[in-house]
Amino acid sequence: MPGKYNRKDHFYKAAKSEGFRSRAAYKLIELNQKAKVLRKGAAVLDLGAAPGGWLQVAAMAVGSGGRVFGVDLEPIPPFSPAELKPGSAVPVTIQGDITSEAVRQQLVQRAGGQYDVVLSDMSPKLSGIRDRDIAMSVELIAMAQDVCCALLRPGGVMLAKVFPSNDTEELIKSLRDSYRRIERVHPKSSRKTSRELYIVCRGFVPTREEAS
Ligand SMILES: C[S@@+](CC[C@H](N)C(=O)[O-])C[C@H]1O[C@@H](n2cnc3c(N)ncnc32)[C@H](O)[C@@H]1O
Repeated sequence: MPGKYNRKDHFYKAAKSEGFRSRAAYKLIELNQKAKVLRKGAAVLDLGAAPGGWLQVAAMAVGSGGRVFGVDLEPIPPFSPAELKPGSAVPVTIQGDITSEAVRQQLVQRAGGQYDVVLSDMSPKLSGIRDRDIAMSVELIAMAQDVCCALLRPGGVMLAKVFPSNDTEELIKSLRDSYRRIERVHPKSSRKTSRELYIVCRGFVPTREEAS
């Protein structure tokens, strides 16, 4: 039945058989094939990373010379060697809220500096009330941008999930001051019932305050 939510769809089954922790892994594989944001040796921060499918994909893409950090409100169990493809980085995970200053401090200390790429697949706990859910998802992108202002290197990339709405459009417009280029990508591997979209913001330009 078109449009009907099917939890155990093709990508869910593929994730199970290929050892990915979530079907979301295929979205990052597809987004990276299209937008090429992950390169060998990069330092990557994944916001809203539980249970860890994106971390597995990012770890494989940056390789053992790169670094991958994940943060989530939920615990992210450590990765066993069997869950990581040979030659992957080993993801480091932190449980906490990215709005917390203490969590941000930890992320700077653990990485030993700024990140090349910030990923955000953060989702609010959906209430089913459209306006409320949209407002919460706009808030999450604003939070991700806040993290980028503190932790993304000049020239770096933010890839973030958004739910289309007028408010989201306003937010994307406001991001144009902070990035040289913003593209939109719709992954085919998103659930058929989902309205989610990803924005790829390249060439981060810190404001003078952030740079100092
Ligand atoms: C769709 S899931 C992420 C799936 C993940 N990309 C993967 O591949 O397994 C969204 C996550 O965002 C997290 N999240 C929402 N708000 C957050 C916040 N303020 N700080 C940290 N994580 C948050 C949720 O706890 C949830 O686990």
